[in-house]
Amino acid sequence: AEEGLLRGRRLLVTAGGTVERIDPVRYLTNDSSGKMGYAIAEEARRMGARVTLVTGRASVPAPAGVEVVRVESALDMREAVLSRMEQQDIIIKAAAVADYRPAEAAQQKIKKKSDEMTLQLVKNPDILAELGERKTTQFIVGFAAETQNVEAYAIEKLKRKRSDLLVANDVTVEGAGFGTDTNLVRIYDAAGLVEALPMLSKQDVAARLLALIAERLPKGE
Ligand code: PMT
Repeated sequence: AEEGLLRGRRLLVTAGGTVERIDPVRYLTNDSSGKMGYAIAEEARRMGARVTLVTGRASVPAPAGVEVVRVESALDMREAVLSRMEQQDIIIKAAAVADYRPAEAAQQKIKKKSDEMTLQLVKNPDILAELGERKTTQFIVGFAAETQNVEAYAIEKLKRKRSDLLVANDVTVEGAGFGTDTNLVRIYDAAGLVEALPMLSKQDVAARLLALIAERLPKGE
């Protein structure tokens, strides 16, 4: 039965870490491996969805049978996601998007000069919040990587960004969050906790999350 749960649905998932250029050979990024988002893409495909995977830097191969859109920075990811949002039934934001980027990316390699140097950063747009503002019928799922007060922050984030579901991973727990093959998550909606999953493979977390989403979608034609 699970096989056909998302038949006929279009799903876009973001994965991996964004890369924010400092100069042609240096950048800021984070520890995201892409495993969580790639597992969602693969499971959604298996459940019959037409899948677009918008991916930043990742260390795992893309699953077969999905459209892959490679991006570098948060600004690139924003453009890739917003330009495709209208066609989607479901959008899941598992990427680790940099909150800040260098104020300017130098065209030439920055030379070593004084003993101290300051890198000026400016805020990136919040893609998940923009999706929340612009959504019409799309079902929007955010992720939250928290290290403290996971529940309070998760619910606050879900409401502020107008997401339909929010997946909170406590990234301080061993075996959960960035880089691991497993994850420990709690899934929230605006009313509170929907499900606290045990430690599972990212593949199984993806399957469970997608089943929850499928239950909440308006019935297809
Ligand atoms: O890739 P893996 O190694 O498998 O690791 C998986 C993961 C830990 C990266 C993933 O499970 C996860 O939690 N992804 C979200 C990480 C994150 O950036 O959390 P956040 O609390 O900073 O952001 C909250 C949400 O807003 C996320 O859905 C994020 O995609 C989104 N966001 C954040 C900033 C921004 N400028 N734009 C966004 O859309």
